[in-house]
Amino acid sequence: MRFSTSFTAASLTAVALAAPAPVSPTATDVTDVYAAEATALTLSPVSHVKGKVFDRYVSIWLENTDYAAAAADPTMEALAKKGIKLTNSFAVTHPSEPNYLSVFGGWRPFRATPSNVSTIADLLDDKGVSWGVYQEDMPYSGYQGFSWVNPKTGANDYVRKHNPAIVYNSIANSPEKAAKVKNFTLFNEELKSNKLPQWLFITPNMLNDGHDTNVTFDASWSNTLVHITFDENEDYTIQNQILAVLLGDAIPKELVGTVDDNYYNHYSELATVEANWDLKTLGRWDVGANVFANVASKTRDNVRKWNNDDYPAFEKMFFNSSYPGILSTTTWAPQPVPDIHSRRKGRTTLDSIQDAWPGSDDKNYYHGELEIPDGMHPPKYPEPFSAYWA
Ligand SMILES: *[C@@H]1O[C@H](CO)[C@@H](O)[C@H](O)[C@H]1NC(C)=O
Ligand SMILES: *[C@@H]1O[C@H](CO)[C@@H](O)[C@H](O)[C@H]1NC(C)=O
Ligand SMILES: *[C@@H]1O[C@H](CO)[C@@H](O)[C@H](O)[C@H]1NC(C)=O
Ligand SMILES: *[C@@H]1O[C@H](CO)[C@@H](O)[C@H](O)[C@H]1NC(C)=O
Repeated sequence: MRFSTSFTAASLTAVALAAPAPVSPTATDVTDVYAAEATALTLSPVSHVKGKVFDRYVSIWLENTDYAAAAADPTMEALAKKGIKLTNSFAVTHPSEPNYLSVFGGWRPFRATPSNVSTIADLLDDKGVSWGVYQEDMPYSGYQGFSWVNPKTGANDYVRKHNPAIVYNSIANSPEKAAKVKNFTLFNEELKSNKLPQWLFITPNMLNDGHDTNVTFDASWSNTLVHITFDENEDYTIQNQILAVLLGDAIPKELVGTVDDNYYNHYSELATVEANWDLKTLGRWDVGANVFANVASKTRDNVRKWNNDDYPAFEKMFFNSSYPGILSTTTWAPQPVPDIHSRRKGRTTLDSIQDAWPGSDDKNYYHGELEIPDGMHPPKYPEPFSAYWA
């Protein structure tokens, strides 16, 4: 089975014109990209912040596969035997991009997001935990173009919509943050030189080779938790269930080869990392999401069941379309306001988020619930916003 992207890049026309400097990071033609590449800043900071359960977290995201197909795939089966198989994991919507963004910012926008939306990068920076985002075939660190076809190799796998970081303006507009969003080649270099950060997000396009997963396992990292997941399922008419597997030596021997059937979604990745390093929260869907049980048992977070009268029974939730928002092309709704008073096991909303959103309590619709809306069950905005719903 191939885990290929559904993306088809528009073919590039040869460009022979001299590029004017400075080059925009959104420019996609060859001359501009090469000019920008020559001066692009890459940062690879390291840190050693002790976590409660793991000291390094690696998130690897694969593309569109139904749960049943993924679970039957021999590679995934083999991986599951080496760790914990998560049999009740769900994406948050369709298509791909908002899912990628959900794991970074705790909400699920679709296009460039305002700079006042904070991300996991801010939470990690707050505690001095180093991080990096690795994208296969990204032409240079901080590149903001929608796609890139490497004229030398013909590789066309890099697409911005699978890059969870650069779509956030709080990353794209910060040279220091954008410099940590880099080509996957940097992963190999940092691995060799012992410069890997403590939190890594990897979008591989070559998993069908076993290439990237092998890199992960051959590395002798200590106390690492690796989370391999699919971004979304393939069949939009069924529940958006995805396979995920937890691996790495942070998993105790007695849990290797076991199954965890608790309900998780992409926000669980945020919640787990927050619980492990005692990070602040984003005050969004990260607050209520279940922490992976193997971690929750040590951080004493409650792993909850879907149970909320505002939503139908879980089986009726499909998570297969997006609800209105500021970036929707069809139906506008106000920008979600974070809960500046979030509290979970003593973890509170990041101070800079509290400062950026003063007096916004009446417009907040996040209340630390496990249950999340979908397109068929959009969030209930508090008055006076209800009038905006189409
Ligand atoms: C980015 O990675 C690809 C392989 O994934 C490689 O061919 C290319 O040279 C790299 N570019 C840079 C700027 O490192
Ligand atoms: C890793 O590579 C070896 C051989 O190179 C292969 O037999 C094995 O299946 C690969 N493992 C994964 C998880 O892809
Ligand atoms: C979501 O799934 C439901 C149930 O199959 C279906 O009625 C609906 O059309 C789907 N929505 C989309 C956008 O595919
Ligand atoms: C957040 O940014 C958006 C877009 O720039 C703006 O419309 C909104 O007023 C900002 N909200 C706050 C509280 O600063």
